[in-house]
This record gives sequence, structure tokens and C-alpha cells, in this order.
Amino acid sequence: MTGAVLDKAARVDISFTDNKNRGGARYRAALGLLMGVERTRQMMKIGFIGTGNMGGALASAAARSGEVEVLLANRTKAKAETLAERIGAVVSSNEIIAREADHIFLGVKPQMIVDVLKGIAPALKERKSAPVLISMVTGPDIARIQELAGGDYPVIRIMPNMPAAVGEGVIFYACSGNCGKAQQEAFLRYMAPAGKLFPLAEELHAAGSAVAGCGPAFAAIFTIHSKSKSENDVMIPSIFSSLHI
Ligand SMILES: NC(=O)c1ccc[n+]([C@@H]2O[C@H](COP(=O)([O-])OP(=O)(O)OC[C@H]3O[C@@H](n4cnc5c(N)ncnc54)[C@H](OP(=O)(O)O)[C@@H]3O)[C@@H](O)[C@H]2O)c1
Repeated sequence: MTGAVLDKAARVDISFTDNKNRGGARYRAALGLLMGVERTRQMMKIGFIGTGNMGGALASAAARSGEVEVLLANRTKAKAETLAERIGAVVSSNEIIAREADHIFLGVKPQMIVDVLKGIAPALKERKSAPVLISMVTGPDIARIQELAGGDYPVIRIMPNMPAAVGEGVIFYACSGNCGKAQQEAFLRYMAPAGKLFPLAEELHAAGSAVAGCGPAFAAIFTIHSKSKSENDVMIPSIFSSLHI
């Protein structure tokens, strides 16, 4: 494959007159073709099961990275279709994602996760290489996700928030011990357009969510208060008095 690419690169018509530049241009052309091949070969498949508010926002961020092919599955197919058209993704199904995706995002409501994981467990079991399961579901921990999925799959548990929709999210993540370095690095790369990602021990996720969830509201109150104290003293006195500001 590499030889064929270099042959093709050597045939690229370069109109530079300067020999030194011509060599550089040929080199860059060859490199560009090689990188193109690499990109095609390495394009990961990322599947989203559940493309509602949170799953949709993260799928959109992953698509913006340009690093991955994004597959979408949703109970109401029309929702996945609309999103797929908007972000340039492929509409799929839970089962196909379970069979084909390298990383599988679980974006359903907590009450649905048992059925969803039990539903895809047989397809996961048939795979030769284990996918990474990425759970945004509030509640079940890594061990529970593995138990429901029916295997010791690598899991990344994340706690995202909606500002991820505009690239301003704060996302905590914790990885299972068997989640490889390359798998984590890939996750961090294609999720970067969602905002800032922080590793956080699983047992601290509840505290982290409280701070990330309520923090912006407190920051807004402090900002408003400092900018126009007299006006807001009139508008929202009860908030300030309850906060003892
Ligand atoms: N929203 C947040 O700010 C936030 C923050 C952190 C974590 N989370 C977590 O993210 C998860 C999703 O929350 P959300 O707010 O995005 O909820 P949501 O908007 O209701 O999205 C859930 C999606 O899952 C789909 N779904 C349900 N059953 C399914 C199935 N069997 N197969 C495929 N798709 C299915 C639903 O499809 P339909 O279109 O048919 O309803 C819906 O689009 C929850 O577990 C939540 O705890 C949310």
C-alpha cells in the first residue's frame, strides 16, 4: 500500500520551477497521501445509543472533531435521522452499533439502561475485539455497567453537562482498570470539541456533578451582583439574603 501511494505521489504534477522546492513539494505530496491513507485506515467508529439532549450534544461534538465516523441509534428513529443530517453522521441501530462501533456511548435515561444493555449483550459477546462502553447515565457505576453488559468490557464513565452542546462543557470521566491508554487518548481527542475533560475518581462523581451543575448559577449570581449591586438588590434580594451576600 505504501509503495503504491509513493508511486502515485511521484506522478503528482508539481509546477514549481525550483528543483529544491520541487523535492519538498513531492515530499509533502507523498506525506499528504500517506496521511490520508492513515486517516482512512484509523477512522474509528463511535456509536451513540440514545441521541436525546445529552447524547445528541456529545455526538455533535464527536462529529466536529473530524476524527471519527459517528453512528446514531435512537428509539424514535426520526430524532436520529434529523441529527445525522445536521452533523454528518450515519443512522444505525442498537445492534449494529453493538457489533461495529469501537466506542459505544450509552445515552438513554437511567430507567432504560438495564434493558438497553441486556438487549445488546449478545451482540457484544460475539465480537472479536471488545469495544469501550462510555456511559453518561446517572447512577450505575462501572461495575454495574459491566455486569449489565455481560462482560468485563473497558468502560469510561462520564458526567457531562449541556454546555457541551456549544463546546463549553465540563466533563468528568473515570476509566475502568482495563481501559487502555490508546483508548483513553482517542476518547479525549474526539471529545475535545465538547469542552474541558477532567479525570475524576468514580467515587467523587456525585460531588463533581453538584459543583459542575450548580457552579455556573452561583458564578452568574456573583457576576450579576458585582456588576449592578443596587439594581439586583431590588430584583433578587431573597437570593442574596439566603446566600448571606
Ligand atoms: N441532560 C443532561 O444535562 C444530562 C447530564 C448528565 C448526564 N445525563 C444523562 O444522560 C442520559 C440521557 O439524558 P438526556 O437528558 O439526554 O435524556 P433524553 O433527552 O430523554 O434522551 C434519551 C434518549 O434515549 C432514547 N432511547 C430511549 N430508549 C432507547 C432505546 N431502547 N434505544 C435507543 N434509544 C433509546 C430516547 O428516545 P426517544 O426519542 O424515543 O425518547 C431519547 O432520545 C441520562 O442517563 C442522564 O442521566 C444527562
